[in-house]
Amino acid sequence: MTAANYLKAVASRRTVYALKPELPSGVNINDVQAVVQAIIRDTPTSFNSQVNRAIILTGKAHKEVWDRVVESIPGESGKKRPQSARDEAYGSVIFFTDDVVTEQLQAKFAAFAAAFPQFADHSSGAAQIHTWTALRELGLGAHLQHYNGYVKAALPKEIPATWNVHAQLVFGVPAAEPGEKTFEENPVKIYS
Ligand SMILES: Cc1cc2nc3c(=O)[nH]c(=O)nc-3n(C[C@H](O)[C@H](O)[C@H](O)COP(=O)(O)O)c2cc1C
Repeated sequence: MTAANYLKAVASRRTVYALKPELPSGVNINDVQAVVQAIIRDTPTSFNSQVNRAIILTGKAHKEVWDRVVESIPGESGKKRPQSARDEAYGSVIFFTDDVVTEQLQAKFAAFAAAFPQFADHSSGAAQIHTWTALRELGLGAHLQHYNGYVKAALPKEIPATWNVHAQLVFGVPAAEPGEKTFEENPVKIYS
């Protein structure tokens, strides 16, 4: 992999809302699991605390969680995105950080105590975007959602209560191209 290839993958990751509840031909859910597992392993964490956690919802579990989110959201317009996740996506990666790990860090490194929740946010964000990019390379489309409290309440009971939900990456086969994206000039200057 060259830097140019890496940057191409970075630029190819887009928000794709129009999904079909399928996987691309030649890809199975274990391929998705292997990608997420590798990213959870290799994404850096503060003090190498390995605070990131993830699960993959698909099939009945995916439908049940998103159905409960739909039912919990008041008003019709707010239900549209979770309805589309339930009905049009093949699955979702749910990203967490473990509060037990964050609290252990706070106890051990008191001088940084206030920073550790933010460090967990940062590392989770890195894992989310790595995963989004890698799933695109598998031929999947995805969009990132934050129905965190609703999702937490709907998750399978065996998920530890200390796992703090950060985001949901909803994926499937792209049914349409992503929308047009505009860019701002944010020049990166070199000072020497
Ligand atoms: C940290 C972060 C949070 C986001 N939250 C949401 C969200 O809650 N719902 C949503 O539909 N899109 C969400 N997005 C998607 C952004 O709107 C999208 O990435 C942005 O418009 C750029 O488009 P692109 O993903 O196609 O490059 C989020 C993206 C990031 C990076």
